[in-house]
Amino acid sequence: MDDTHPRQTRDGIRIYSSEDFAGMHVAGQCAAQILDEVSALVHPGQTTGALDDFIRNRVEEMGATSATIGYRGYNHASCISVNHVVCHGIPGAGIPKSKDETISRDLEKRRTSDVLLDGDILNIDVTVIIDGWYGDTSRMYVAGRLSKKSERLLQVTHDALMLGIEQVRPGNTFGDIGHAIQSHVEKNRMSVVRDFCGHGLGRVFHAPPNVLHFGHAGTGAVLEEGMLFTIEPMVNLGRPETKTLNDEWTAVTRDKSLSAQFEHSVGVTAEGVEIFTLSPLGRFHPT
Ligand code: MF3
Ligand code: CO
Ligand code: CO
Repeated sequence: MDDTHPRQTRDGIRIYSSEDFAGMHVAGQCAAQILDEVSALVHPGQTTGALDDFIRNRVEEMGATSATIGYRGYNHASCISVNHVVCHGIPGAGIPKSKDETISRDLEKRRTSDVLLDGDILNIDVTVIIDGWYGDTSRMYVAGRLSKKSERLLQVTHDALMLGIEQVRPGNTFGDIGHAIQSHVEKNRMSVVRDFCGHGLGRVFHAPPNVLHFGHAGTGAVLEEGMLFTIEPMVNLGRPETKTLNDEWTAVTRDKSLSAQFEHSVGVTAEGVEIFTLSPLGRFHPT
């Protein structure tokens, strides 16, 4: 099959070969290793700008290219989304004020910059390109002490992602993935963000289909061997609605409740699923 006319399903979802999976594995592992490495730098007093500088340098040193620098006018090697920022937080820009009661009023007043404070939870999202293949992954970190409430949010969000991934196999549908995620989240009285979704990727950053993190079992496009996409549920402690700030990137929860997200890039295999972005150190938990 020549690269200019790759095979696609009726839904416009591209089907990739097993050699392509090898390329995705390399890109995915690069992104995941960078997420492992940045972990040591996350602490109170650190700035999100410095975390992004580190990521930008590591992407370059590993011979990869950042997919986000220059993407639709975005100019950073990562998105860093703190507390009630749902996604697309801009490193180095001010962190929006949180209403979280675990942060004292004094600290609240000091929140004038991109400095992380004790108890902040943050998602770091990195996408790299290696040999034309995209590796897109994100996970949660904590600066200092993790509160019980944040811990629960992170655990439910990660479990929801993995339950979604468990549904990935030929013959299942995208609705099966969304349903597994939504059921778990709502069983735990949290909410799934509807305004952002996962996406096909591979030779491009964002391709069909939209991978919804909610839905009904048995609905939507049927999964086929060779499909490549991300699953990246955003889960809120409060209501699901989001709004985008004036910078046109930063998405926050409307009710200012805490939000968490984990993201893996996966491929459908004959047997089920390959997760390209598993942590080389076997890590996801921030502590
Ligand atoms: N990595 C994000 C995703 O999961 C996309 C970030 S686009 C950016 O799809 F421009 F905001 F970086
Ligand atoms: Co993504
Ligand atoms: Co991402």
